[in-house]
Amino acid sequence: MIKIEHLTKTFNDLVAVDDLSLEIPQGEFFTFLGPNAAGKTTTIKSLVGLLRPTSGRIFVGGYDVQKDYIQAKALISYIPDFPFLYDKLTAREFLDFVDGLYPGRNNSGQEALKFELLRAFGLKAHQDKLIENYSHGMRQKLVFAAAFLHEPRVMIIDEPMVGLDPHSVHLVKDMLKKKGQGRSDDFSFYAHLEYRRRIIRPYRYYR
Ligand SMILES: Nc1ncnc2c1ncn2[C@@H]1O[C@H](COP(=O)(O)OP(=O)(O)OP(=O)(O)O)[C@@H](O)[C@H]1O
Ligand SMILES: [Mg+2]
Repeated sequence: MIKIEHLTKTFNDLVAVDDLSLEIPQGEFFTFLGPNAAGKTTTIKSLVGLLRPTSGRIFVGGYDVQKDYIQAKALISYIPDFPFLYDKLTAREFLDFVDGLYPGRNNSGQEALKFELLRAFGLKAHQDKLIENYSHGMRQKLVFAAAFLHEPRVMIIDEPMVGLDPHSVHLVKDMLKKKGQGRSDDFSFYAHLEYRRRIIRPYRYYR
């Protein structure tokens, strides 16, 4: 599902990622472990097409992230380490906005899914409040709700549990696990977690 071939990314003289190759099959949970500045976020940003590799190639679902980026991105949900939200939208409006970014997904099933996600993340009662009034954890939960909206085949999360309360951490893990198990024939989740779980195969950065 994910294939990285000899990824190197430099910033001037600094080698942030040095000749990284790996393959992650469908249905697998995968994590990067490494100290600060090891190159985890740089790898993730290259993987989702936000950074151009200095050399090497990256494929998601068989699509080259640099060349076939529209097709590759259609398969991916990406939650960055510092997610961006529009403060002047409500949670409901934000989900409608994200929904509109994915062609062909504006059907009646989507309304039920939005309702279910807002409920599951405990945001139903707050769905018409402006995001600027949300706490950090509420924002994080909204970002997760939006990430599940287009039923991604690959989920890429940078520092996934930061800011979530224990209940929400449990909920997110459960949702990822269910998704991975339920549709393991065509679903795959690729998460960057700060700690090890049994279900996760880690990649370690050594410096
Ligand atoms: N846009 C950039 N310009 C210059 N240097 C950068 C840039 N982005 C990252 N770096 C450098 O690349 C190295 C790897 O950074 P990266 O953010 O990938 O680390 P990380 O493993 O995600 O660390 P952390 O655990 O702190 O999130 C660091 O030395 C960082 O300073
Ligand atoms: Mg990082």
